[in-house]
Amino acid sequence: MLATTGTVGTALAFPQANGSVVFPDSACGNSQGQRVLVAYASQFGTTGEIAEAMAGRFCLAGMSADTKRVRDVQDLADYDAVIIGAAIHYDNWMAEARHFVTGNEDTLSRIPVAYFFTCGTLADSSDKAIAKSDEYADKIASVSDRVTPLSIGRFAGVLDYSRMNLRTRIGLWPFFTVIGANEGDYRDWAAINDWTDNTIAPPPFTTT
Ligand SMILES: Cc1cc2nc3c(=O)[nH]c(=O)nc-3n(C[C@H](O)[C@H](O)[C@H](O)COP(=O)(O)O)c2cc1C
Repeated sequence: MLATTGTVGTALAFPQANGSVVFPDSACGNSQGQRVLVAYASQFGTTGEIAEAMAGRFCLAGMSADTKRVRDVQDLADYDAVIIGAAIHYDNWMAEARHFVTGNEDTLSRIPVAYFFTCGTLADSSDKAIAKSDEYADKIASVSDRVTPLSIGRFAGVLDYSRMNLRTRIGLWPFFTVIGANEGDYRDWAAINDWTDNTIAPPPFTTT
């Protein structure tokens, strides 16, 4: 029993994707337009798929956009605006995203920035789930008191055991069972597109 608990603890602390999970890294758009970075943290790739879809919307609107994991972002100097998105892990925005914001406060405090998060909670549209997502948004808003996001998008995410390696699947299954999360792709692409088109671009990215 103790050994099992240890394995579960390890899997919870270090959830691992299986080898087939893809983390989008791409660029699109008009090099003459404003440059947007959509940087993301994701364990199983699905938040990255949202980030890449957002980048596609910016490019359709005449900008250029890069999609990158936050860990792969080298330099923010060339960007006119930055979107930072991450999955919620254990009631927090993934640490990688938080560290990215605090580590780049100088630049991010000078340009338009928006945040978004994905979570299992919003698979359910109950008042309780909305209240929980309010808590997530409040925590994310206070990651840096120097960076004020224009908006914090909140989206239902994905629970897909086939994206996890076996050890992680076995480790996380009890956690998701206890919190009542059912496997599924809960992403609402209309809501994601709407947030991207109407809340974020344009304006404010067309204004200086
Ligand atoms: C280890 C782990 C912990 C999670 N903790 C929470 C949580 O506390 N609250 C929540 O709503 N969703 C939680 N989730 C669900 C994820 O936020 C959701 O599945 C997200 O869409 C995963 O994105 P990804 O595919 O980019 O990793 C958790 C997922 C994992 C893997």
